[in-house]
Amino acid sequence: MSAPKQVATGDRAILPEGAKTIPIFVMGKRYEVPETLTIMKAMEYAGFKFLRGAGCRGGICGACPTVYRKEGDYKLYFGLACQTVVEPNMYLAQIPFYPANRAQYDIEKTEPLADAVHALYPELFRCVACNNCTKACPMHVEVLDYISAIKQGDLARAAKLSFDCIQCGMCASRCMGELPQYHIAQLVRRLFGKYIQPRAEHLQKRVAEIESGKYDAMLGELQKMGHAELEKLYKEREREPDMVPLGTWMPKDVSHL
Ligand code: SF4
Ligand code: SF4
Ligand code: FES
Repeated sequence: MSAPKQVATGDRAILPEGAKTIPIFVMGKRYEVPETLTIMKAMEYAGFKFLRGAGCRGGICGACPTVYRKEGDYKLYFGLACQTVVEPNMYLAQIPFYPANRAQYDIEKTEPLADAVHALYPELFRCVACNNCTKACPMHVEVLDYISAIKQGDLARAAKLSFDCIQCGMCASRCMGELPQYHIAQLVRRLFGKYIQPRAEHLQKRVAEIESGKYDAMLGELQKMGHAELEKLYKEREREPDMVPLGTWMPKDVSHL
């Protein structure tokens, strides 16, 4: 027997005329929701209020990992609730937090060496290369590859491979070796950024210029302007065109550079 139909009530339940609803199951309970919504909006439509498990709503913060299955399909799917659109008869549950081990370290005293990472996270070597982590990643990060790179001591490669990780914890939830992949990768990216990646010379030059007071007079002029004058200046400013190839555009007025 199918679960009783629950129709959502409240402000979010006002549907545009002609909108189609579909059934979804949230933690085993059936709700009728508009077919075009993301999982997050559909859950809110159904009456859920997010106290945890929602943050940026833009696919960046990693707060809303969701596991779901589709009707007639044994396979588990993984997605971000704020990005994944509902499908008829999807069965879902959110995993807003995963209690993975996170090592304590002082980055100032941690050497940018594989040995240091291995000592903080010895469970790295429990990885059996099953690839469950990669299959579960809603950001399509090659999780097994970055774990393997860390085991092999190639921190630069691991930092690059894990760059799109949003710390959602889904990989750890599926790991038979009980690795906290995302915390390990975050340590590696911190070490890479602090010690391994070459310093950006143009940035150092600009910081030195700021500290020397080069822009003080210009900022002083702006501070004296009124709201209307500032708004005009902002609207009429010379803008870099969209999608211009890197390093090919310069403003006509270079007096402020
Ligand atoms: S899920 Fe765990 S054990 Fe499997 S490949 Fe990923 S890190 Fe290794
Ligand atoms: S690597 Fe793990 S924590 Fe990072 S986005 Fe993928 S599943 Fe989430
Ligand atoms: S709410 Fe931030 S990734 Fe979904």
